[in-house]
Amino acid sequence: MEDFQVEPNKIYHKACEDFLIRVPEGTFDLILTSPPYAEMRDYVKIPAEEYCDWFIPKAKLFYKTLKENGVFVLNIRNNVMGGRRDTYVYELVHKLNKEVGFDLIDDMIWDKGKMLPNTKGKRPMDCWEFAFVFGKGLDVTWNPDPLRTPYDERSLQRFEAPIKTRWGSSRTEKGQKKVQPHPLGCFPKNILKIGSETSYQGHPAPYPVKFAEWFVKGYSNPGDLVYDPFGGGGTTAVAAQRHGRRWILTEIHEEYIRLAEKRLAETQEALF
Ligand SMILES: C[S@@+](CC[C@H](N)C(=O)[O-])C[C@H]1O[C@@H](n2cnc3c(N)ncnc32)[C@H](O)[C@@H]1O
Repeated sequence: MEDFQVEPNKIYHKACEDFLIRVPEGTFDLILTSPPYAEMRDYVKIPAEEYCDWFIPKAKLFYKTLKENGVFVLNIRNNVMGGRRDTYVYELVHKLNKEVGFDLIDDMIWDKGKMLPNTKGKRPMDCWEFAFVFGKGLDVTWNPDPLRTPYDERSLQRFEAPIKTRWGSSRTEKGQKKVQPHPLGCFPKNILKIGSETSYQGHPAPYPVKFAEWFVKGYSNPGDLVYDPFGGGGTTAVAAQRHGRRWILTEIHEEYIRLAEKRLAETQEALF
């Protein structure tokens, strides 16, 4: 099949696998997505034991269409089924590395903060999800500075003491040296504390714009092309548009495409 050139800033009403088969190798800088979780939603229901077979052929297309050293961020969570927390995500991550070829750059935790009370079952309340950061190679784009956060008062006080005292160790000859706080704040951590959004409705499983923005800013540069294969209500594109990146979505449900278009139009208005 002949390759075609993708059109940036467009939502394709297509299954990602049907779209990607035609996309030239090395097209995208960043793929950021949250696929349907196993057994979860009415819009696409994939049994957990079939999840890897469903996902891996798509992931091979993600790998092909990413640039060298491009990044693939996967937001997902082992859900609880029949009283057990399933383990299909662990199997998936292993296969993404061994079968597809992605390097795991980091496994991050998204702490969603407040949750609806759920005291049934023999486990604490569920308040986090994974964000796996994969690379097509290791020399990926990484911009920590826009992700820095203000130091808290205690950290600022600790900067007053020399390294040796701060860490109680003399491993470094420079133990008496003082380190200055970075003017832009604290280096980003791999636990993201971002509360679920209440401001937008119309899709049953969106991630917050702030969550998408964190990865867009950290793992791509202005002008880069960001793709979300499971586009939903368009959150990835909203984040990309806000930060001067080009974007592409694929989505199979027309109602979510309409929702994404509306949100993107509002984002555009807010920018100008
Ligand atoms: C978890 S939602 C994504 C939500 C999105 N991150 C947001 O914030 O709005 C997953 C989406 O993938 C879509 N989907 C499922 N299978 C698909 C496929 N093969 N190709 C494209 N989209 C698909 C579903 O319709 C659903 O809207």
